[in-house]
Parts: sequence; structure tokens; C-alpha cells
Amino acid sequence: MCGIFAYLNFNLQKERSYILQVLFNGLRRLEYRGYDSAGISIDNSSSPRPLVFRQEGNIESLVKSVYQEVSSIDLNLEESFAVHAGIAHTRWATHGVPAPRNSHPQASDSGNEFLVVHNGVITNYEVLKETLVRHGYTFESETDTEVIPKLAKFVFDKANEEEGTQAVTFSQVVLEVMRHLEGAYALIFKSRHYPNELIACKRGSPLLLGVKELPEDNNSGPAFQDAKFLSKDGCPKEFFLSSDPNAIVEHTKKVLVIEDGEVVHLKDGNVSILKFPNDKGRHGGTIARPASVQRALSVLEMEVEQINKGRYEHYMQKEIHEQPESLTTTMRGRLIQGGSCKATTVLLGGLKDHMKTIRRSRRIVFVGCGTSYNAALAARPILEELSGVPVTMEIASDLLDRQGPIYREDTAVFVSQSGETADTLLALEYALDNGALCVGITNTVGSAIARKTHCGVHINAGAEIGVASTKAYTSQIVVMAMLALAVGGDTISNQARREAIVDGLYDLPSKVREVLKLDNEMKDLAKQLIAEQSLLVFGRGYNYATALEGALKVKEVSLMHSEGMLAGEMKHGPLALVDENLPIIVIATHDACFSKQQSVIQQLHARRGRLIVVCSKGDAASVCSGGSCRVIEVPQVEDCLQPVVNIVPLQLLAYHLTVLRGHNVDQPRNLAKSVTTQ
Ligand code: F6R
Repeated sequence: MCGIFAYLNFNLQKERSYILQVLFNGLRRLEYRGYDSAGISIDNSSSPRPLVFRQEGNIESLVKSVYQEVSSIDLNLEESFAVHAGIAHTRWATHGVPAPRNSHPQASDSGNEFLVVHNGVITNYEVLKETLVRHGYTFESETDTEVIPKLAKFVFDKANEEEGTQAVTFSQVVLEVMRHLEGAYALIFKSRHYPNELIACKRGSPLLLGVKELPEDNNSGPAFQDAKFLSKDGCPKEFFLSSDPNAIVEHTKKVLVIEDGEVVHLKDGNVSILKFPNDKGRHGGTIARPASVQRALSVLEMEVEQINKGRYEHYMQKEIHEQPESLTTTMRGRLIQGGSCKATTVLLGGLKDHMKTIRRSRRIVFVGCGTSYNAALAARPILEELSGVPVTMEIASDLLDRQGPIYREDTAVFVSQSGETADTLLALEYALDNGALCVGITNTVGSAIARKTHCGVHINAGAEIGVASTKAYTSQIVVMAMLALAVGGDTISNQARREAIVDGLYDLPSKVREVLKLDNEMKDLAKQLIAEQSLLVFGRGYNYATALEGALKVKEVSLMHSEGMLAGEMKHGPLALVDENLPIIVIATHDACFSKQQSVIQQLHARRGRLIVVCSKGDAASVCSGGSCRVIEVPQVEDCLQPVVNIVPLQLLAYHLTVLRGHNVDQPRNLAKSVTTQ
């Protein structure tokens, strides 16, 4: 839920102002992960006690307060350090209100002996806190994190009491701390006892190390041997630790994706990795000896441009407009030419060894939250149609609340753009325990869901930074449509339908490009709706998902109440809301449900409903006969792909409404990009 970042320069003179800039820019890149408070810790050459700055509000509030404090304590911004270890955090509050005392770094004591930035949740913090309180520790915050630096101090003091001064290394302290922690976490430790060193470790939450050697290296080849960073020992280096690659890619593409249980120690320009060989290291029983681990660096496949706004004002705007490209990337290499149509074979490499099992499943169960759930809902009908396997839908939290039945004969498909959502992850663990084949559909390579599922498909939509998901949604639908084609197989009876869908997939980016031309029209509609309190969106069939997703976009960014509804349910209650004031969007593009949607429109006209109809090009006159309505015409595509086209005007509407209403588009109130708490 939060973002953590660290910067360590080795043998490389860097001024304090530069170090602050690197830390602040790192946080800016991670701000979408949480933005209700932030903090940093940097070194102070005149005292071994590291400086800590924490501030409620977004990164810019922190930046302002740091520069104010720096000048009030007369800290020289030009002072230069050959080695310096700085850590930083941006927070989405889980335990305790947004306030400086609950912001990170959290400290072991007023002397800042151990400082920690944390992303995740420590589930046993209350037990640990009780123990530490019994040992005389006092707590200042309401966070779960505060137990971690205090536990580190406890471990450090105990070892020194028993064995004499500085009897333990920094990594030994952290390994011992980790043995006591339960929950999901990515942590970075800094300590006054170990100046110029940093430790990073993780279990469950994501964490990467970026390494930049100077002079610039060629970004290739394995870099670790004997658990050391070997090349050109002693040469200047910069290290970056981050919750995601966005904050690293502008510095280096050489990264190490830190694995669960690993403790990464940055010291003297070297990287050493230690890990307990098994879980005994973590929970009582025999305490195994940690072993050193050798790992090679990998090269990030992303460009800095992907995480910049380019010519757009906001990330959400950019991500809506780049959907033709993101859809193309999602499909690249997966539609294989052949036969009479442009392509007949769908190649989803990650699933090929499991296709038989999926086809023979008793059920396919889609599991997800929010937008990811909606994408699965949009794909459900085509998967049912082509595979003949019953497809059921589960909101992850609800599956867990009910402990709903999942069988060995089921295929459970976990849809999550971040691959880190706690509810989806826990539902995955539940399905694994129940023996189902688990498939992941994510946008994040190496994410927890990607790693824990038996197989999966990466949607390749590229980095999505706006908190409201847009391009990931459309890419998810496309991947699931391709999943339906792959599971359905190539039978004579479905050949024409397959060919139409494959052709439709090829044409989809250009159709989305066409629908993006509605931008001004949607802005104009947003102007009309700017002062409304509420909005309803009716859809059915393939576009029930469009109604839910369109309403979700509007409510989460523009903060206008909006509800997506199944049009078939209109007569069973919602009709009571209809009058000449409440704006209602009806999705009525041409498909098997079209005539039913026409009759819904007639019934709404009869109640003088204030209608906005999304219809296929050329249908405007027919959908609006019998009353007045505003029409948004979109290109018609194959029915199962229509949700990809239909959502675009609603994304644009949500975007413009938000800007016009003066709200933060990319960082909606109270939300964060990946929800790593239950
Ligand atoms: C809304 C949105 C959320 C996420 C949900 C699940 O725009 O993005 O509803 O879809 O929090 O997140 P993921 O897809 O990362 O599992």
C-alpha cells in the first residue's frame, strides 16, 4: 500500500542537495502507491544520529517542510558525502491516522538507533508490542511498523550485552527480526550503529534493488559471485531500493528482484544476500543457519518515457489515450497467422502446459477486486460460450468471507493488475489449499500473484500510474478474450465465430483510436453534468461490466456518486429513482441484448428520464425514438470486444468531470494503486 525507496552512493561524492533530490524524486514516482504522509532519513555529518523528517500530506508537503527545517537547523545543502545512505517512504494509512508520528521512517528510540520504512502489514504486531512493552519500550505511534525498529534495537542490545560491543552484523540483526515478523512486508533498515549501510528484506510485498556502476556499464551479465557485487571492486556505485521499477528506471536498468525471505545487505560497495534455507528460520523450532545466496541482475524492460506524462496533463489522461498502443502490445506475438482469416491460433505461452486441465475443469472461477473483477465479468460470456465450461464470478473478499467452495477440479483465474492485492492474494492461497489449478492474469511481472499461481498470462499493458485503472482494464479484457479462444480450441462448429473475434482483435486498436476522438464531446457532457450529485449507468450482457466499470471510474475520481446497474433489474427497484433530473447512461450498442435495451430506453422515456445513450454508429435515430436523449455513437465491433470500445467514452467522462470539479485525477481521495491490506 505504501511506497518505500532508498539511495546509497558509494565512493562517489554527492552533495546533500542531490541526495535529497534523488530521495524526493523516488517518492514522487511511488506516490501513486499512497499519498497521505511521507518521510525521509538522511545522514548528519556532525552527529551519528541520522536526521528524520516526516510530514502529513503528499510528497510536495514533505519537500517543503524538509527545506524549511534544513534551513532552520543550518544544514549545509552543499555538503558532500562519499558514502551516504538515505531512506524514504510514502504512506497510505492502514494503522493510525495520517500524522507525522504515524509516518515512516519509524524509529527504535529518540536516538534513531534503528530506522525502518515499511510497505505491508505486520499481523502479529500486537503480540510483539506487548513483549517489547514488558521490556520497557514505549511506543509513540499507532502503526504496526513501530515494533520493527524496536525489535531490531532489542536484538542488537541483547547480542551486545551477551557478547560485547558490536557483536552482530547488521544483517544478523535483521535476520533475527524477520524470524519474529508475520504478515506481508518489504522493509528497508538504516541504523546509526551501521553508518553507510542499508538492509532490505521482504516477504510478500514487492522490493527491487537497482545497481548503477560508474563509469556507466553495459547493463549485462551476471553480477553476483560469492554473494558479492564483484565487478571493479571499490569502483563508484549507486544503489537504489524501491517498491517498484518506476523509481529505478531513470537511474539504471540493472535490477535485482528481491525474493521472499532474502536479506540484502549493502555495505562497502558490495551486495550480499542471506536467506534462511527454510521456514524454520522464521518460526521457532530449530533455528537454521542463514545461507548466502548468489543471484544475477536482470535488465528492466521498460523505458523512462513510460513513466512520464509526456504531452499529457495527467497520467490517467495519458493512459486512456495510449490504449491503442497498449492493446497492440497485449496482443503482440499471441495471434498466430494461418488459415483463411488473418489468424486462427492464439498462443498464450504461460498456459500451454495446462490447457488440457483447464478444458477439463468442472468450473472456471474468476476471482478479482474492483476493476479487475469488472474485466473478468466482461469476459465471462465469451469464455462460457467458447469453452462450454461454467464460469462463476467471485469478488475476492467475498469468497474469503464465505469460505466459498473451491474444488480440486476447478480452475481459478486470479485477475489483478498489480498482482499484489491482499484480498486476491489471500483468495489465491485459499484456492491453492483447496487444490484448484490457479491461473494468474496480471500486469506486474514477478508480482506475488504471478509467482504463486501455477501458470498465467501477463497483460503487458505497460506501467499504469494513474490510480484509476484504464488501460489495464481493456488489456485484461483482451487477454481474457484470448484465453476464451485458447480454451475453446479450434472446432469446426466455432470456426466462424473464432475468425470474427480474431479479426475483431486485430481491428480493436484502430477502433479504440476512433472512439478516442470523442474526447471533446465527453468534455462537453462533463460540463453538463458537473454539478450533479448522482449518475446511474445501465448495461446488460457483455456490457453489464461496462456499466459497473463506468460508474466505478466516475465515482472514484470525480467523487460523484454513480452506480452501475444490470438493466434487467431496472424494473425491480431502481426505476423508482427515475425522474427528469437524474442523469442516466444506458449502454445500448448493437448485440443480442439490443432490443431489450431499446425497451429499457422506452420505459425510461415514459418516466421522462434524462438519458444519455451509448449506441453503435448509425443507431442514434432508432435508440432515441420516443423521447429526447443525448447520444454517444461508438464504432461497432464483435460483441465480446465491445466492452473495450464502450468503456472509453466513460473513462473520458470520468476524467473530464474530475478535472472540471477540481479534484486530483491521478490520486483520488483515500485511494491507492495497490491495496495490500485486507
Ligand atoms: C479502480 C481500480 C481498483 C483495482 C482493485 C484491484 O480503478 O484500479 O478497483 O482494480 O483495487 O486491484 P488489482 O487489479 O491490482 O488487483
